[in-house]
Amino acid sequence: MKKLFALIAFALVPMTGMASGGDVHLDPANIDVANDAAIQRGAKTFVNYCMGCHSAQYVRFKQLTKVGLSEDQIKENLMFAGGKIGDKMTIAMKPADAAKWFGAPPPDLTLVARIRGVDWIYTYLRSFYKDDSRPFGVNNVVFPSVGMPHVLQGLQGLQKPVYEEIEHEGNVRQVVMGVEPGQPGELTPAEYDAMVRDLVTFMAYVSEPVQLERQRLGIWVMLFLVVLFVLAYMMKKEWCKYVH
Ligand code: HEC
Repeated sequence: MKKLFALIAFALVPMTGMASGGDVHLDPANIDVANDAAIQRGAKTFVNYCMGCHSAQYVRFKQLTKVGLSEDQIKENLMFAGGKIGDKMTIAMKPADAAKWFGAPPPDLTLVARIRGVDWIYTYLRSFYKDDSRPFGVNNVVFPSVGMPHVLQGLQGLQKPVYEEIEHEGNVRQVVMGVEPGQPGELTPAEYDAMVRDLVTFMAYVSEPVQLERQRLGIWVMLFLVVLFVLAYMMKKEWCKYVH
């Protein structure tokens, strides 16, 4: 019996809690998945900066008609010539090649917002810093020894690490606790954060496009229950008249 309880308790542990990285501080993404304009902007950044390596293979381009883009707009701005609107957001790179180049294959990002949590991704994309010991010259506070290059470096610039000394069993170790501004990029920090927020909004949207639908449906379900309750109450009163 105890085992059964433990199993149930374990099954209920939220996934985001498990996946968020250790004791690293995460900045709140503060996204609004109902903001179509943010999703549209995020989609554009995703296609331009991320789809060289990452797919979102469970999403079809056509899905973006649900956030206010026309099929022509999607074809013109987000797709290669010759693609079909019903195509999935896949990439040409082979996972085996990618693993060779980056040490790890770039994972599909359709569900990453659910697996890692939006705060984690928001913090991750803003936490690259200069580290000459790494193959691409960068490292990441929330993803130490990451295989991904800082693909947004031109926009963000290159931050510097902030070290803190930690004593563990008599040994003093230097640990990266955060970042500070280094070489500036094309965007101001506020503009960069806003761009990343849109990108995260897009990823949250594709990870669960039905969630808005579910919210709308939820309201009808609640209304139905209220009406049902009133009817049941009236019936009960009616019947009780005959009981006495
Ligand atoms: C040049 C190739 C490349 C590009 C472009 C790229 N990434 Fe990555 N990304 C990687 C690789 C490789 C990994 C795996 C890193 C590892 O496991 O060490 C990764 C990992 C990630 C992860 C962590 C996934 C996880 O759960 O472990 C996220 C999130 C991510 N990338 C988001 C993005 C976003 C958003 C963009 C666009 C702004 C982007 N990436 C562009 C190569 C790339």
